[in-house]
Amino acid sequence: MAYTSILVETRGQVGLVTLNRPQSLNALNHALMRELMDALEAFDKNDAVGAMVITGNDKAFAAGADIKEMADESALEMTRNDHVAVFGRIRTIRKPVIAAVSGWALGGGCELALSCDMILASDSAKFGLPEITLGVIPGAGGTQRLVRVVGKATAMEVILNDRKLNAQEALHFGLVNRVVPVSEYLNEALKLAEEIAARAPLAVRAAKRAINHSYESFLKDGLDEEKQIFYNLFGTEDQKEGMKAFVEKRKPKWTGK
Ligand code: CAA
Repeated sequence: MAYTSILVETRGQVGLVTLNRPQSLNALNHALMRELMDALEAFDKNDAVGAMVITGNDKAFAAGADIKEMADESALEMTRNDHVAVFGRIRTIRKPVIAAVSGWALGGGCELALSCDMILASDSAKFGLPEITLGVIPGAGGTQRLVRVVGKATAMEVILNDRKLNAQEALHFGLVNRVVPVSEYLNEALKLAEEIAARAPLAVRAAKRAINHSYESFLKDGLDEEKQIFYNLFGTEDQKEGMKAFVEKRKPKWTGK
């Protein structure tokens, strides 16, 4: 299949997807997200592949959903178009998926990494959910998954006050499996994926399913609630102002309307 926003290859038994919109720090537009999920689903069906790695580049895993693409949408359009639904397709992947993260993992980029089964981080990785600075909230699982990983107090600070977590903090909170130098994070992720891919395939998938059953109990209700609140905020003047201000590279003026 011809992809325009991602690079796809196999390394041994590992399927590797590289997010490839470096000019916008891998902002996750609709086309990229569709391609990413198509590629993961193709690897999931390919018997020669036992595990997958998603990566970006050294500077950015992904700086979030594409703000320019959604800035002008209304709450009705957001609900009707349901762009965030594409993120949910990752939950149907049966084989392990590892995120190899360097640089920015913000907003939807952080949510994408949180949707993977493990995260290998470079020492320059920075995780955050800065949607509050745009007058909205995370819409692709951030409020639900982060709280399960780092606990309520830290999740509140990250989401309500745009606190970024550096690689060592992410390790401390158990958000990432390990932190390695930037020259090594992709190799380390590929090595881990290759090791898992060499194990009993049916047992690996069964284990992932069982762990997710524990992790995801009650998650679906939370994800639905979060997504609808996210979409509804597109009916506010603050969302229009917040995203316009980002595009115009200035500070937003909040009115609470
Ligand atoms: N969407 C669209 N474009 C983006 C983007 C995004 N999320 N993040 C960065 N870009 C673009 C910038 O507009 C800029 O483009 P131009 O060169 O055309 O101006 C280019 O990428 C490089 O970005 P910066 O010049 O801003 O780079 P920087 O090094 O000064 O700053 C940054 C880096 C702090 C990550 C900053 O780019 C930033 O704050 N980005 C937005 C992060 C964000 O708010 N993400 C949440 C998005 S909403 C979301 O994800 C909703 C959801 O839950 C689904």
